[in-house]
Amino acid sequence: MSKDRNNEHDEEKNDDKQYRNEDGTLTTRQGHPVRDNQNSKTVGNRGPTTLENYEFLEKISHFDRERVPERVVHARGAGAHGYFEAYGSFGDEPISKYTRAKIFQEEGKRTPAFVRFSTVIHGGTSPETLRDPRGFAVKFYTEDGNWDLVGNNLKVFFIRDAIKFPDVIHALKPDPVTNVQDSERIFDFMSQTPEAMHMLTFLFSPWGIPANYRQMQGSGVNTYKWVNEDGEAVLVKYHFEPIQGIRNLTQEEADSIQSKNFNHATQDLYEAIEEGNYPEWELRVQVMSDDDHPELDFDPLDDTKLWPKDQFPWIPVGKLVLDRNPEDYFNEVEQVAFGTGVLVDGMDFSDDKMLQGRTFSYSDTQRYRVGANYLQLPINQAKKKVATNQRGGQMSYKVDNDEGQNPHVNYEPSTMNNLKEAQMSGKPHTPYTEGEVKKEAIDRQNPYQQAGETFRKFKEWEKDELIKNLVDNLIPCKTEIQEEMIAHFKKCDEEYGRRVEEGLKNSTSTDGADQDSTHGGPAGATKTEEGVQQ
Ligand code: HEM
Repeated sequence: MSKDRNNEHDEEKNDDKQYRNEDGTLTTRQGHPVRDNQNSKTVGNRGPTTLENYEFLEKISHFDRERVPERVVHARGAGAHGYFEAYGSFGDEPISKYTRAKIFQEEGKRTPAFVRFSTVIHGGTSPETLRDPRGFAVKFYTEDGNWDLVGNNLKVFFIRDAIKFPDVIHALKPDPVTNVQDSERIFDFMSQTPEAMHMLTFLFSPWGIPANYRQMQGSGVNTYKWVNEDGEAVLVKYHFEPIQGIRNLTQEEADSIQSKNFNHATQDLYEAIEEGNYPEWELRVQVMSDDDHPELDFDPLDDTKLWPKDQFPWIPVGKLVLDRNPEDYFNEVEQVAFGTGVLVDGMDFSDDKMLQGRTFSYSDTQRYRVGANYLQLPINQAKKKVATNQRGGQMSYKVDNDEGQNPHVNYEPSTMNNLKEAQMSGKPHTPYTEGEVKKEAIDRQNPYQQAGETFRKFKEWEKDELIKNLVDNLIPCKTEIQEEMIAHFKKCDEEYGRRVEEGLKNSTSTDGADQDSTHGGPAGATKTEEGVQQ
């Protein structure tokens, strides 16, 4: 990778001459110069070593703590800084009709942003060629505080209720005994989860292996709300469209890349930015009135469904540009913390059960993974000055207060020059909710129709790949699971199920034959431009 390794860092300037370290002397974290970094302190030059060797103890014990827990999902990632530039309108209408969020209002207005792309299932150094959804998480440092949009490349998800998330992830992760990912475990779970058919149809097609991070879409997946000045809301879905175009890989292409390089997507992103070839995405938004939409054959809060583009067009609202690589992978990419709860004025939550469950999970895991004061780290800190009454906790190193605030008053209300509640002009959004409290699935589940439509919209080579990949992954499964999956796929589309069934039959009749030649991929099928119109 090309990078000037002697790059000067933007270190904080210490103007007091006596404290400068102009000759680059190695020091301990206490600021003590290190005279000998090659030898431990020992009795004689053959040892034993001494315990009062502070330099050694500091160095080794810091090394022992160099890792924080990996993200439980999305552990492998790459990130970059950039900005979002607003278009200032919503088609022919002023965007303020739908949202008062300041980030969108003014044409040309730029807001700094940080993006982290990721794979989902395997660990922090796993290959980037794996069949897996890709994470597309964006932090916008807006004037009203941070807004996080934590999305994926695929626009739908496996499940629609957050209570099922640990199960779907356990099925996809390696077997807890063998520590090997096992397609029988995956399809065992999926065969009992009809709502997953749409996601599986995308995942086992070439859309399940984007060629790199620059040439893939991003989607918020869940349904959010926009709120205008009068407190009126609409339902919204967010999508990022890559200006670089979309490119996906066949399994064969992915295997060939993986045999030579399992960091290709991180490398591609880093090098493109170093070369000044800045990747861009247009942010496009779908809106729907804030109600149940009984006329639709799906529920607008169901994240296993697409909102058809012909009924709910993608309206461009701005562009996202990535133009700066991180200075330090750990400080920025590893410690960045995104969450679906991080919204700004003019945005709100819908009743989407996945969104609400996610909103608890992200900050919960980050208080454990990064620490109670994770929001004080530069990468997570809002650019807007924060002023809270929160104090202390592990690794707290500063007080989030306002210049004029009385440092003795870390509570509210008070009469002694304390922080005051915000005066905001926009009316609050106050949705009305009533109903029995119960555990029950939604009414309009319709698990197969959109999966079938997606299958029918695939190009022939995408269909061929989908069938081949499913068959290859179903071969090791027991017959009952194969039969259940075939029945699901037939309900999506007769041809879809029949082709999987035939593929499995052929694989048993040619038992022992080379599987790759039995289910060979299409010659010359290398990329998906535009792809399926979703
Ligand atoms: C990461 C939970 C569904 C996208 C994570 C993390 C957790 C989590 C615990 C690790 C966060 C961290 O350590 O910082 C959940 C739960 C879900 C859910 C409970 C369902 C109820 C989804 C969905 C999407 C998604 C539907 C896509 C829209 C992401 C992304 C990351 C992530 C992109 C990585 C963020 C980063 O780069 O730091 N999720 N997730 N998740 N999740 Fe989810």
